[in-house]
Amino acid sequence: MPKIIPVAVFDCVVFGATGDLTLRKLLPALYYRFRDGQMQAGSRIVGAARSRLTDDDFRARAIRALEQHVAAGDQDQDAIRAFAGQLHYVAIDATAPDADWTLFDRVLDKGRVRVFYLATSPDLYGPVCQALGANGLVTDLSRVVLEKPIGHDLASARTIIDDVGKVFTESQTFRIDHYLGKETVQNLMALRFANTIFERLWTADVIDHVQITVSETVGLEGRGGYYDKSGAMRDMLQNHMLQLLCLIAMDPPVSLDADRVRDEKLKVLRALKPMEPHEVAALTVRGQYTRGAIDGKPVPGYLEDLGAEDPSSTESFVALKAEIRTWRWAGVPFYLRTGKRLPAKGSEIVIQFRSPPFSIFPPETADWRPNTLIIRLQPEEGMRLEMMTKDPGPGGLRLSPTGLDISFEKTFGKRFPDAYERLLMDTVRGNPTLFMRHDEVEAAWTWVEPILEAWAARPDHPRPYPAGSWGPTAAIALIERDGRTWHEEVP
Ligand code: BG6
Repeated sequence: MPKIIPVAVFDCVVFGATGDLTLRKLLPALYYRFRDGQMQAGSRIVGAARSRLTDDDFRARAIRALEQHVAAGDQDQDAIRAFAGQLHYVAIDATAPDADWTLFDRVLDKGRVRVFYLATSPDLYGPVCQALGANGLVTDLSRVVLEKPIGHDLASARTIIDDVGKVFTESQTFRIDHYLGKETVQNLMALRFANTIFERLWTADVIDHVQITVSETVGLEGRGGYYDKSGAMRDMLQNHMLQLLCLIAMDPPVSLDADRVRDEKLKVLRALKPMEPHEVAALTVRGQYTRGAIDGKPVPGYLEDLGAEDPSSTESFVALKAEIRTWRWAGVPFYLRTGKRLPAKGSEIVIQFRSPPFSIFPPETADWRPNTLIIRLQPEEGMRLEMMTKDPGPGGLRLSPTGLDISFEKTFGKRFPDAYERLLMDTVRGNPTLFMRHDEVEAAWTWVEPILEAWAARPDHPRPYPAGSWGPTAAIALIERDGRTWHEEVP
């Protein structure tokens, strides 16, 4: 068990304290850090939202949320009670001109690290930060945490970045992308830069193509109001998936220093080949789920989940083919896809190596598969390297693919902390390595925006796909046109 280093006492104010993210992710993450001794007694979590609640009301809500969202075996009643004692609540309409910001005086301590977590809609980021600044709540030891997506296009992202920047410096600003806090995502850095065997093969000479899939079985889960304005491109691809692509494609940073890592990711984002409007139809596929079944259970379609009668042109699925214009990656396609109501929840990165230039083995002796490295981010975190090996036994030589498999969970035999646990503690420690710098956010929007514009300019809607399928058939055609196959479609 690694040694847990307690961090000094801190105050953390969560705006949007009665919302889904706070109850489902932030409070459970903070509870785990408290239970494991990392969050010191005396630290305060201050919920802030419009609802007129007392400290006790908020504590009761938090306890209910922990009962729902913390694994039963991890619910230690003494720890839950003690944790709840560190929760406080401030009822405030943060955008109202007459809001009483002195209410925070009761629950904040000047000499402490102070984290403002904005679990709100992005259009409130600027106004809330300005109000915090104007009311003298931002100290040298303060940081602000912003949830993705930062804005809904490049212009709105820049406005948020500028408005927040008037109050918090870049080093005080933590733009969270929770995929960067996932254990296996960090393992990508270890895999690539702590081993010699892969880095030399990590080039267009050896790699045929890369696939990144993030599939979800869930639908809108009551978040329709937000999701219908975002869609899969803004919700998942602009941030989580492009960050994964960066970690796979970036050059080795000169050190682990936050800015040196982010410089390398930025280079990848800037090297993405922009899509011309006339290329978008051929290089992207957007879909929207219709009624179907997942795990044998019938599930409603997108519009029913949304409760809308009129059609919506929001995509719940996107697949696309990206190109990175660098010496390392020229000619290697990166196929990305993500969607809701797909048959299974999982995230994986597939690196497919080139086939041998010719074979000394007669074709009938082998069920040929190119070498493939599959990095599973969730569930069952691990890696598998598929290789050709000889079938055991006497007689003729026959070959078939076999996998070298590592399951991280089996190897390490312990619970992997949720991404939010690590990221929240990183904000307290002031370590920005796993957070997006403003120029990364802008570069990602710069690449994504022409695609969104080309979609908006077309009269057609996203292609329907039945819930429980792998998206529209056009997504299969997108890769098969190039003579390749999505990973799980390999029989
Ligand atoms: C969030 C998206 O950022 O990531 C959600 O807003 C999505 O729509 C979620 O469901 C997926 O995260 P995870 O960790 O469950 O893969």
